[in-house]
Amino acid sequence: ASSIDLAVIPGDGIGPEVIAEALKVLEKAVAAEGVELKQTHYKLGAEHWLATGETLPDAVLADLRTRDAILFGAVGAAPGDTRIPSGIIEREMLLKLRFSLDHYVNLRPSKLYRTVGSPLANPGAIDFIVVREGTEGPYVGNGGTLRAGTPHEVATEVSLNTAHGVERVVRDAFRRASARERKHLTLVHKHNVLVFAGHLWKRTVEAVATEFPEVTHDYLHVDAATIFMVTDPSRFDVIVTDNLFGDILTDLAAAVTGGIGLAASGNINMDRTAPSMFEPVHGSAPDIAGQGKADPTAAILSAALLLDHLGYAAAARKIEAAVVADVEKRDGGARSTSAVGDAIAARL
Ligand code: NAD
Ligand code: IPM
Ligand code: MN
Repeated sequence: ASSIDLAVIPGDGIGPEVIAEALKVLEKAVAAEGVELKQTHYKLGAEHWLATGETLPDAVLADLRTRDAILFGAVGAAPGDTRIPSGIIEREMLLKLRFSLDHYVNLRPSKLYRTVGSPLANPGAIDFIVVREGTEGPYVGNGGTLRAGTPHEVATEVSLNTAHGVERVVRDAFRRASARERKHLTLVHKHNVLVFAGHLWKRTVEAVATEFPEVTHDYLHVDAATIFMVTDPSRFDVIVTDNLFGDILTDLAAAVTGGIGLAASGNINMDRTAPSMFEPVHGSAPDIAGQGKADPTAAILSAALLLDHLGYAAAARKIEAAVVADVEKRDGGARSTSAVGDAIAARL
């Protein structure tokens, strides 16, 4: 197609700040390809909830479904903000989008750029992707509480894992591994304790592996995976894991590869039955919001993932190259959010 019908959800805190820079870069990258970028901006998030009481109205969800892709900033209030119930926006808006639009592949690449400092003394060459399941696991809100507020309260949070859900994300991870140089997949779970879900994941990996004889695979319990993420992160190529383990591992992965300001992600519906959504891994960062301090690189790299998904690989590679060139010039000096966006856009 020669046009992109893009939905933009800037959100809260630093969300609008980093999205402005991602759009600056995206607009320039697609214009160079002769592609028209049509944008529809949606007001959603914690601030919007405070003003209207709305999280994600059905009509807005229906409208979003008609777009080619969604560029998302970040949502959420400051942890201590008592004006808004904790997590309501995260669950009723962000997770509702991921579930309703069937974003079963939560793709989170991690790469250590040559000049970016890692907190690790010996990081090695880090270049892996996490394929995090995006629609199931402990995230589905399958639980409840009995005798709430009493000393006898019982709270449950039951992880949901379906054969269909596990198989489709595992197959996607094998496909991605097969397309990479090292062709190696690591399943991360905890089947020594979480026996039912753990064994479903383990059996599924073993079954799907027979379709991909060129891909080697191994297994780590999630606790051990955090050790290796710090002591030997270059061992990883493709990690496939459950929704919650993937959430935790990808913040750690971002930290060891130079910070959350660089970590991009895609919430992808590989069957293309609904638009996919691309967003930085980070949140609304209330501690630095409004100060022009946020690093927009994660949002800019998320826009590159968006272009890849829509089939504009050449434009995506150009954005990545511009980011790498910018990152290689960084000397630790402070630059404003818009200065980083301008510099990356200028390199396109
Ligand atoms: P956070 O990711 O917002 O911030 C964690 C730390 O990283 C903060 O010190 C912040 O200043 C820093 N940071 C984050 N992004 C940065 C950037 N681009 N440049 C420089 N520094 C950056 O996590 P949190 O504080 O746990 O969450 C804040 C709010 O965001 C909460 O309401 C949470 O639920 C929400 N949240 C939303 C998303 C999302 O929208 N996808 C993701 C994570 C958290
Ligand atoms: C992320 C965030 C979300 C998640 C929250 C805000 C629901 O932490 O995108 O990593 O847990 O998936
Ligand atoms: Mn997270």
